[in-house]
Order: sequence, then C-alpha cells, then structure tokens
Amino acid sequence: MSALTGKSVLLIIGGGIAAYKALELIRLLRGRGLAVKAIMTKAAHEFVTPLSVASLTGAKVHDHLFSLTDEIEMGHIELSRSADLLVVVPATADLMAKMAHGHADDLASTALLATDKPVLLAPAMNVRMWLNPATRRNADQLKRDGVLFIGPNDGEMACGEFGPGRMAEPIEIAAAIEKALTPQAKPLAGRKVMITAGPTREPIDPVRYISNHSSGKQGYALAEAAVVLGAQTMLISGPVDLPIPPGVGMIPVETAEEMLKACENELPCDIAIFCAAVADWRVARVATEKIKKAEGRAPSLAMVENPDILRTIATRTDKRPKLVVGFAAETEKVVEHAREKLAKKGCDVIIANDVSPESGVFGGDRNKVHVVSAQGVEIWPEMTKQEVARRLMDKLSELLPK
Ligand code: PMT
Repeated sequence: MSALTGKSVLLIIGGGIAAYKALELIRLLRGRGLAVKAIMTKAAHEFVTPLSVASLTGAKVHDHLFSLTDEIEMGHIELSRSADLLVVVPATADLMAKMAHGHADDLASTALLATDKPVLLAPAMNVRMWLNPATRRNADQLKRDGVLFIGPNDGEMACGEFGPGRMAEPIEIAAAIEKALTPQAKPLAGRKVMITAGPTREPIDPVRYISNHSSGKQGYALAEAAVVLGAQTMLISGPVDLPIPPGVGMIPVETAEEMLKACENELPCDIAIFCAAVADWRVARVATEKIKKAEGRAPSLAMVENPDILRTIATRTDKRPKLVVGFAAETEKVVEHAREKLAKKGCDVIIANDVSPESGVFGGDRNKVHVVSAQGVEIWPEMTKQEVARRLMDKLSELLPK
C-alpha cells in the first residue's frame, strides 16, 4: 500500500492540445492508489471526450456549474474541497489569468476559487503566450498566492514553434502530485531562525528621515519559507507595507541601532539571515524640532557611521549563530564585491544580488542571486523572491551544522 492510498485528486482538464496527456496522467495516478475526479472545461471537450475521462477515472465527469443533478449529488464547493489536491492539466493562459484575477464564471474557475486545498498547475501554451508579460505577471501572482507549478518544459510545440510552453510529461506531473501529497520533512524543526528585512529609517528631525527602496519582500519570503521547514522564526523588520507571514514572530524597528539591539536580544539562534537594507550612516544630531526652511540656505547634515549589524553578530565570541548569512546589494562587480563582504563581515554565506535600477530587484517581485561562500559561487537563474527563499532555506538547512 503506497502513502497515497486513500488520497484523492480533483483533476481540472483545460482546453489545449496537451489535454490528451491528462488521460495518461489519470492512468498513472490510479496506479498509485489515488482516487481521481475530473472537471472538464467547455474547451477541453474539443480535445478529449468525457467518456474517455470517465472510463479512466471510474467516476462521473463534472462540467457544468449550473447542473441541477450535480448540485444535488455533490455541490461545486464540496467537489473542490473533498479532494486533497487540485491539479490543472493543461493550465492554459486563460485559466491562469482567471485564477490570478479571481474569476469564477464556470465550474473549473469556481472550484479553483472555492477550494481550501493546495493547487498544482501544469501550464501548456504557445511559447509567445507563455513569455507574454501578461502571462508572466499572472504566473508570478499565482506563485505568490502559493500555487504550485510543474513545468512548462522547453521543446517543440504542436504549433511548430520551439521554446518554453510545452506541458510537463505525465510521469513528471505524477511525481509532482506525489510530492505535493506527501507530508514534507521539517528539517528546521526545533531550530531558531532570525531574519532582518526591509529598510531602516534614520531620522533627521521629527518629520524627515533617510531611508532606501527596500520593500521587505525578499526578507518576508525567507521568513515564510523558514516556517514551512519547521523553524521558530523571528523577523526583525524596518517599516514596510507587508502582512506578517503566518507563524512568524515579528519585532518592528525603525533605525539601525534599534535593529542591532533587537538582533542581540534574539540570540542565541541557529541561523541568522541579514536581508535588511540597513542605512550605513545616520545623522549625527537629530533635531528635536522640525528644521526650518531658510531661503537660499540648505542645512548641512553631519553624518556618523551606523553599527554594522551583520559584522557585529558574525564576529561575536559568544552566542554566534551557527550559520550567519549576509546579503550583498551591488550595482557592479556583483560577485567580486560579495567575496570581499564575505571576508570583511565574517559571515558564512553571502547572497549577492544586483540592485541597479534596471534590475528591478529593490521593491520588485523577482530576484537573481549568486550564492557566495568559501566553497565557491553558485549562480542561480532569475526567479520569484518566494522561489529564491524556498531554495535558499533548503540549502541553509543542509549547511546547518547538526
Ligand atoms: O526588500 P526588497 O525590496 O525585497 O529587496 C531585497 C534587498 C535588495 C534589500 C535584499 O535582497 C538585499 O540585498 N539586502 C541587503 C541590502 C544591503 O544593505 O546590502 P549591503 O551590501 O549594503 O550590506 C551587506 C550586508 O550587511 C547585508 O546583509 C546588510 O543587511 C548588512 N548590513 C549593512 C549595513 C549595516 N550597517 N548593517 C548591516 O547589517
């Protein structure tokens, strides 16, 4: 008996040429002991027949939102929640757009909106449709919403073009379904992770401050990924406009000095990740009243250096976290400067990212990072900040001394 026996999948078959692969997928899933129910969109009927799908699933095919018989037997809400996982095969550009925008104008989109279960998409479409900025935006939004993806793969399309957009093979989709349905290991259970995020704000007077463009998105994504791996997670964050991820402890701070103090108070911890964009300097003397504007005479501000939080924690002789990870925000010679920071700051790993304005990393949803350590440099492809976070937390959980 497999770990999947007794679990069930609601398969949503979209309208695309790759829909024929759904039949092979059903066969593979049933062979693994999974119960499969299917919804077919109107367009899916152009590619596979409900009779084939019903024969392979051994169950009735659902295809109408307003079917009286279906609603009496099993309402669409129950249909979307009785399964352990919803899988969309093929996930067409149209279905992804509907999901990203919360549409519910047919049974498939309504089930996807009404579900409280994980959702896995196997996209398939023409390469230009996949690369279109609208589809890119929708895919990014869905990933941020926690939707899982398998593929698409690079390859030759039915339309004769070549590139990304070809649906993953049924065997790959079956493996992704098995992974999604298998309880994940919690390699950071019993471990404490501290993460700094966002900008700091260094006051000039009661109404003005010096800050930067950090949105906190990368740091918050890391905190979310740390919780998924079972870590007790503490976020020490400068002012940002983001919800606190579920299960994460949060200490809000404004200045670099407050951030350092909060980090020191959180020791000991197993992993410390310094993702915040900390102001290197602060105004030496903060005015107690608003500085008055004098015509033709701009005030000169004397600056002093802020404490280096990362270096202070990484070079401690007591309570040094087992793994100290810094970020390096660079606009040129990204790896070279990151290597220098690795040595200068005394940390174990530096995650280097290019923050020049054209990269869109500050405040954006995507990042392209280099992982720099004494072992060498890993170049990761561009991905969403959530994907960077998940991959990085997996890596750190392996690097963490037992
Ligand atoms: O917040 P987002 O919009 O998602 O953007 C993410 C990010 C670009 C801010 C993030 O990925 C990032 O690169 N964070 C580090 C920003 C930074 O301050 O880099 P730095 O190269 O100036 O500093 C190097 C390291 O020292 C960083 O880990 C920083 O947190 C730390 N530092 C810097 C100065 C200081 N006084 N104390 C510190 O601890």
